[in-house]
Amino acid sequence: MINLVNIHRTFDGEKALDGLTLFVPRGTLMGIIGPGGCGKSTLCKVACGLIRPDIGAVVVDGVDLVRADRKKLLDVQRNCGVQFQNDALFEHMTVLANVEYPLRRLTDLGLGEVRARAMERVAMVGLSGFEDRYPNSLSGGQRRRVALARACVTDPLILICDDPTAGLDPVTSRRILDMIAGIRYQTGNTVIVVSSDVPGLLSVCERTALMWSGRIIEEGIPADFMRSERDEVKRFLDDARLPFGGNG
Ligand SMILES: Nc1ncnc2c1ncn2[C@@H]1O[C@H](COP(=O)(O)OP(=O)(O)OP(=O)(O)O)[C@@H](O)[C@H]1O
Ligand SMILES: [Mg+2]
Repeated sequence: MINLVNIHRTFDGEKALDGLTLFVPRGTLMGIIGPGGCGKSTLCKVACGLIRPDIGAVVVDGVDLVRADRKKLLDVQRNCGVQFQNDALFEHMTVLANVEYPLRRLTDLGLGEVRARAMERVAMVGLSGFEDRYPNSLSGGQRRRVALARACVTDPLILICDDPTAGLDPVTSRRILDMIAGIRYQTGNTVIVVSSDVPGLLSVCERTALMWSGRIIEEGIPADFMRSERDEVKRFLDDARLPFGGNG
């Protein structure tokens, strides 16, 4: 469960989050959409305790991240897998070593078990045979899949994916979203996914939230969402060129 209440966060005097409130029930796949620069990545970082809000409460599985001591915060972060917007792969490490990394850092598993689990996740994202490759020899979609395997290799209770489909063709984008939905289905964990593939995201997520200028202005199940009468929602869905919703 992730509960963000009235979050404000300013960078150099500019408001990135401006009264953001969002509740993500345990086990829900929550899709986040919104125009560039509206604060989606900041939301992701606040939700896993990487950025502290100036004002507001961040409660993750019962722990208040703003008030938590370092140990409590680390406990929560241990159970939180994050796929960053830019992949943030370790370029000097192989695909397999990238995926093994969280297991080595966060668990006490032996080497054999670490390897086995990482291999399993590499296979899950369809990259068997790529274990010894380095990230710079992969395509954008393949890199995204490595980042996804790495984010979920510890079976985190919370998985946060920040624009895992950015810059991908529609088919690859849909495959990545399906993979994330598959992980959610298998684990029953809480997942937040930001994506600019709006039709793709609406087709896999259980709930959707539209962000606008640092706050959530609409939240609900995708079907209700697409029937929203709100002007910003209609405009956004229209701009996203959905075959349904919007103005046409
Ligand atoms: N570390 C930072 N330092 C200064 N400004 C920042 C920082 N992080 C975010 N911002 C600003 O906060 C606002 C929200 O940024 P954020 O990255 O959260 O938007 P976004 O919705 O993820 O955008 P995009 O769709 O382009 O990924 C932007 O105006 C951005 O310039
Ligand atoms: Mg972003």
